[in-house]
Amino acid sequence: MNKKRGLFLTLEGVEGVGKSTNIEFITQYLEQRGIEFILTREPGGTHLAEKIRGLLLEVHDEPLTELSELLLVFAARAQHLERLIKPALEQGKWVVCDRFTDATFAYQGAGRGLDLAKISVLQSMVQGKLRPDLTIILDLDPAIGMQRAIHRGSLDRFEQEKQSFFERVRTAYLKIAAAEPQRCLVIDASKPLQDVKTDLLAALERGLAAIN
Ligand code: TMP
Repeated sequence: MNKKRGLFLTLEGVEGVGKSTNIEFITQYLEQRGIEFILTREPGGTHLAEKIRGLLLEVHDEPLTELSELLLVFAARAQHLERLIKPALEQGKWVVCDRFTDATFAYQGAGRGLDLAKISVLQSMVQGKLRPDLTIILDLDPAIGMQRAIHRGSLDRFEQEKQSFFERVRTAYLKIAAAEPQRCLVIDASKPLQDVKTDLLAALERGLAAIN
């Protein structure tokens, strides 16, 4: 008998929104329910995709072109999907992924201003019809998020962008959520952590009930 395909859950938001803390909460929730899962991230998730992550996040003397950035993001994704995500889903495991293609529409599309139609073409080429079953978008004023990111230490290539870049990213996430309310749930991450966790739990239960 074939095992039921696992669910694909992604988490998104601007820098410093508290993804790591909330991912920990999600994985505890899944553990408590005895759900087998893998936790992964983008860009990255496999040995080679993590190397591409290094190229994307490190600051280089030779500036990375916007198109190179887009293609590297999808190169990492192609590797990640074939080597890790798809096999796990086929084995019935859930996949919890810190960022996925919504980040490409938000960062390379809205942030950099690349053509969304081109991103959609790459999305189809790399993913076929595969999309996350549930996406949690943690929403926060980027000015607050950047303050948190600055306190964490040195800033990567994306974190060095201007506030206006992150404002476009935030707006893009909210637009995606409005266009796909059945897949995306927005959580106000400016609230105290305990309230965010309560919202996250409700979102997980509601989202999971809807897709199970
Ligand atoms: P983070 O995992 O620490 O948030 O860093 C990943 C960075 O990569 C973040 O600034 C967003 C960026 N990114 C993109 O620009 N496009 C993408 O498709 C993904 C997955 C991430």
